[in-house]
Order: sequence, then C-alpha cells, then structure tokens
Amino acid sequence: MYPRVQLRRKILIFTAFGFVCYVIWICCLRRLAQNSDTKLYISDDYNAQIADTNALTHGFEPADPESKTKELQEAVTKKPEPPRRPWFMTDGEVWPVASGARRNVSLMPGEAPGEDRIANQLMYVPHNYEEVRQSGALKKILLYHGETWSWNVELGAGWFKRNKCPVDTCSITTTIAEANAADIIIFKDQYIPSVYRRPPHQVWMLYMLECPYHTQHMRHNDVFNWTATYRHDSDIVAPYEKWVYFDEKVRQKEKPDENYARQKSKLVAWFVSNCAAKNRRLEYAYELQKYIQVDMYGSCGLLKCPRSEKCFQMLDTTYKFYLAFENSNCVDYVTEKLFVNGLQHNVIPIVMGARQEDYANVAPYHSYIHVDEFDSPKHLAEYLYKLDEDEELYNSYFLWKGTGEFINTYFFCRVCAMIHADYPMKTYRNINEWWRGPGTCTSGSWKKFNKSETPRSRIGHVRSISNTPVLKV
Ligand SMILES: *[C@@H]1O[C@H](CO)[C@@H](O)[C@H](O)[C@H]1NC(C)=O
Ligand SMILES: *[C@@H]1O[C@H](CO)[C@@H](O)[C@H](O)[C@H]1NC(C)=O
Ligand SMILES: *[C@@H]1O[C@H](CO)[C@@H](O)[C@H](O)[C@H]1NC(C)=O
Repeated sequence: MYPRVQLRRKILIFTAFGFVCYVIWICCLRRLAQNSDTKLYISDDYNAQIADTNALTHGFEPADPESKTKELQEAVTKKPEPPRRPWFMTDGEVWPVASGARRNVSLMPGEAPGEDRIANQLMYVPHNYEEVRQSGALKKILLYHGETWSWNVELGAGWFKRNKCPVDTCSITTTIAEANAADIIIFKDQYIPSVYRRPPHQVWMLYMLECPYHTQHMRHNDVFNWTATYRHDSDIVAPYEKWVYFDEKVRQKEKPDENYARQKSKLVAWFVSNCAAKNRRLEYAYELQKYIQVDMYGSCGLLKCPRSEKCFQMLDTTYKFYLAFENSNCVDYVTEKLFVNGLQHNVIPIVMGARQEDYANVAPYHSYIHVDEFDSPKHLAEYLYKLDEDEELYNSYFLWKGTGEFINTYFFCRVCAMIHADYPMKTYRNINEWWRGPGTCTSGSWKKFNKSETPRSRIGHVRSISNTPVLKV
C-alpha cells in the first residue's frame, strides 16, 4: 500500500511540474516571435523564413496567429543550421585546432589528387604549435628576388599577426645573405643559380603567376621542392580568385534576386587588347560575329571605351553576355577575366581558356557558358538567342549569387603554416615537363585535343626523396 501512494504523489508532482514548464515555454516562445529583438537569438535565415511565411499567409488568407506560431515552431525544429564559417570567410568564426601528432589533413598535392587543399592549408596548425609559439622562434621566408611590393607584404613578422594567420610564427626577409638560415626560399618567375650550399631541409619554391606561354623556360632540374602557381596540383595553389560556398550542399538559390535580363538592350560584349593570342580567340570571335552581334571594344575591335570602370558597368546594365576569353588555353588557367570582369558583374560570361572540367572545379555552379559546350560558334550563337528570348533560362545562370563568396586565400599564411608542417621531402625532377609538358596547354580547342596525350598524373614528374615526415629541430 504505502509505496503505491508515494508513487502516485510522485506522478502528480511530475505532471504539475511538466504543465508549468509547458506554459512558461509557450509564453516565452510567443514573446520571442513578437519581439523585434528576435534577431539576437534567431539567425537571418530564420528571419527570412518568417518573412516568407508572412508573404504566403498575406497572399492567400488572413494570418492566423495560432497556426503561425505552430509553423514557426516547426521551422525551428526542421531547419538545419547552416554550417559555421571558417575564419577566412566574412563573419568567419571557426578557428583551427592543433592537428594530432600524426597529421590528418591533406596539404600536399600527392595527398589529395584533384584538390587545391587551400581550405586545409588555411585550417592547419601543427600538433606542437603551442611549444613553437612559446619558444619564440620564427620560420624565415626569403623572397629571393627582393620584391615585397608585388606580393603586398612587408619585411618582418607583422604581416602574419595583422592578418591573423592561425600559424603566424614566421618572418619575411629579402636579404640573400640570410639564405642559410631561411626555412623556405621563394623564387618568383625565375631562378638564377647560386653557389651556396642548401641546408637539407630548406624548401625552394618556384612561384609563377602567368601561364606557361608567358613564363620563362627553366634551365635547371631537380632544384625546386615546391611550386606555387594557379594550377591545382601546385603545392601552394595561388589562384586568381577562389570561390567558397557558405554551405557545400546549397549551390543555388530557388529564385534569382532580380530579373537580370531586364532593360538589357544588347547581346555580346568583349574588351580585348591583345589581338594575337595563342588560342586564336579572335578568330573564334570573328566567326561568332557572323551569327550574332558582338561589340568588340579595344585595339582589336572598332569600338572604344577608354575608362575601364565605365566599360565594365555596361556589363551590368546593357549587355547580356561577355566574352571572358583567356589569352591561352592551358589547364586550370582561369583569371580575373572570369572571376572579376564576368562573375562580379550581372552578365553571363562565355569562357575560353582552361578545359571544361577546370572551370567546373573553380567557378560557381552554372555561372558561365564554355565555348566547348558547342560544336561551333554558330551553335553557340543559336543558344545565346535562345537565352535572349527565355528570361527564366537566362536568369538560371545567376542562381549561384549569394550562395558563397570569393575568399582571400592568404598566400603567406599558408606558406607559414606549410613550413611548420611535417611535409615529405621531394623535388620536381623535371620542372618544365610538369609545367609545360604535353597536356598542359593547347593552341587549338580542347575538344580536338588528343586526350591520350594527357599524362595520367603530372605528379610523375616529382621525385620523392622521403615519404616519412621531416624531423625538424
Ligand atoms: C584531425 O585531428 C584533429 C585533432 O585531433 C581533430 O579535431 C579533427 O577532427 C581531425 N580531422 C579529421 C578530418 O579527421
Ligand atoms: C629539396 O630538393 C633538394 C634538391 O633535390 C634536395 O636535396 C632536398 O632534400 C629537398 N628538400 C626538401 C625539404 O624536400
Ligand atoms: C593520340 O595520341 C596517341 C599517343 O600519342 C596516338 O597513338 C593516337 O594515334 C592519337 N590519336 C589521334 C586521334 O590523333
């Protein structure tokens, strides 16, 4: 008898407690939903959803506060949180934690074929970093050709601190007399042999901004350990721009922010000054011009537009398409012609330069048209007319806008992090083969390119000296 009474009392107390909690919870939730301060507690996405709900209910029937609260509750429980952004993005808040004793992220090209590893490098902190920091030792980065202005950095350690690099115990110098003490020497675009003997763990890195047609032929092999170029298989990839989604799973909005076709009266624009490009882009444009109006500004065309900012504004207001043709057809060679002139205006860029798969890797999803999607300039022109007539189809090329951002890739933060890492020792056995060998560039169209001439892996030109992590003192 006795234990049962006690049990009943317990149940009663529990129920009463539960009821009180429920009432408090309902009241609080309503207050929150009505309170204009909700922004403090609820993400923007959530607010957008409230706005959507409002629009819906206003459009069809008077809002019912009861059902609205219910919808809100459902929204709260159903909506997955967008991922928190890493430090290198706007409003980024995720900072790296030190790696385990055995590095578990890919930093080198051989460790993640096909990937640029930029985010990994920006998020890498070595396992013993606390000790390194406390020791006060700085890794020395020597810029061999002396320029700091072209890199937009200054001498010393200040740059790393100011840019909040997760690994910032580095210092930049241009004094060649300090070469022996350097941890890494960066050669920009050229290499002039010197007599001095390199310490075994010192890294020599070749940096190249331009594509093979516009960079020097290297006379020395087995010299460089790392490369830094726009190519995705460089050790430290230095792209012209880097696009990152806020959420990898969300690459398009449901509808465009605006009608990008509205009030545009003209079709294709091109700003061009180099009329003798290796990839015969001018010939392609002339051929295209036979079927569709192409307004050519600059020294190869008839139109003039001296002030470049004004010219690019026309891409937002007047033109529907822009020829973002590179001057060379080389693997991964995608420059500001696409990223800045094209994608940062309200226009559809038509691209020629790298291969279709290269553009797919670096550009936002469905943001451009590649000439190789079409058999001929004539077929491209037909498709452009189709887009001109179909606003929905035209606007489908802008659904990526707002799903991510172009990031600063903090080249020197990555150099600093990498030189602290347990990297394998290696050299580029034949740097020219790697950089300009078969399969890297073509003077014709990639479509006509004989795929069997593409080396299966350009990593093959790299000589591995040791796979075991470097022991560093
Ligand atoms: C790598 O190791 C760190 C620290 O041990 C851990 O926090 C992180 O989740 C690991 N990352 C991966 C991709 O396994
Ligand atoms: C860099 O390359 C040189 C020349 O092949 C080699 O002697 C040295 O061990 C390499 N160093 C690293 C850190 O890979
Ligand atoms: C492509 O290149 C391979 C190897 O060089 C050659 O055997 C083949 O005949 C070429 N194919 C064409 C269509 O040119």
